[in-house]
Amino acid sequence: MNKVNIPEILITDEKLKDFLVQGIKRTEEFLEIESASPYIPLTEITQHLLLAGGKRIRPILVFLSAQFGKPDIDRLAKVAAAIEFIHVATLYHDDVMDEALMRRGVESVNAKFGNTNAILAGDFLFSRASAIAAELGPHVVTTLADTLSVLCEGQIREAIGAGTTDPIKHYLEVLKQKTGSLIESSAALGAYLSGADDVVAAALSNYAQNIGLAFQISDDILDLKGNPAKSGKTIGKDLLEGIHTLPVLSALSLDKEGVLKQLLTEVKGNPENIGKTIAKVTELGGFDVAGLHLESLIDQAMTALDSVPKGSARDALVQFAQWLTKRNN
Ligand code: IPE
Ligand code: IPE
Ligand code: MG
Ligand code: MG
Repeated sequence: MNKVNIPEILITDEKLKDFLVQGIKRTEEFLEIESASPYIPLTEITQHLLLAGGKRIRPILVFLSAQFGKPDIDRLAKVAAAIEFIHVATLYHDDVMDEALMRRGVESVNAKFGNTNAILAGDFLFSRASAIAAELGPHVVTTLADTLSVLCEGQIREAIGAGTTDPIKHYLEVLKQKTGSLIESSAALGAYLSGADDVVAAALSNYAQNIGLAFQISDDILDLKGNPAKSGKTIGKDLLEGIHTLPVLSALSLDKEGVLKQLLTEVKGNPENIGKTIAKVTELGGFDVAGLHLESLIDQAMTALDSVPKGSARDALVQFAQWLTKRNN
């Protein structure tokens, strides 16, 4: 997996593109400096994923959302770095919870350094995020603290399961919390730090909430249908763990004969059953339903952008939403 490739998002305005390139460059500098510990073995672990790449979608969203006020590249790069640290820390912990072996095209931190080190390095990254946020004032600190609380609630709700509640409703609520929260805050803080007006800031948050959900749904589809060489992750990981995402849940609701239900029991922990389970999800139309849901979220995100001033930054947000949900990595 390559480092973030901004030209993949179609931005025709050269000035905006240049701002984004400079902003991401500054963010990368903060990430490298601030993730270093005087204790070198810790630095090796904290920088393992940070330097392996990643799409940097949250930093990109910070810089794009800041275009509706007076963007200050240094303060924006700081918040982008704090957000990326939180994101990467949650990935370190998520990969422990999910027993994932690969991340960003390389061995996951837990696989390479063990669970204990992955947990502690994740905690270290949270602490670096707090230190950077403190430089930006109490609003940023509070927003990020609240966001992380919501994210943790989403992760634990997913782990505990739907219980007697409607599984699709539960799934969508989990997504909003575990993924949507940090993506929404990326837009909200980009708008806040550049002093965008309240209506525009609210519209950007609404846009980000919808694309955040759409992004995780497309990620869940990729978990079942993606190309491991491009995504850097193992196919069918969710099925192995017994996690049922939107294509599976939609197919289950159409599984009159209970064939998929049986396959889902058999695939848990058994990689050899992944292929036939995905084939059944496809046959029952699970991917079609998930695709429709995704389209509807993109439509809602586009409607939210109606309240944002027209221009190259708004055009870039449209392109960003398309790129995010049509990607194959
Ligand atoms: C992965 O996030 C975890 C999810 C919330 C889907 P990203 O897809 O943004 O991961 P990186 O940063 O590009 O590796
Ligand atoms: C990751 O969710 C979300 C967070 C880290 C908060 P998943 O477990 O679904 O994502 P991947 O597939 O590991 O990237
Ligand atoms: Mg995971
Ligand atoms: Mg997970």
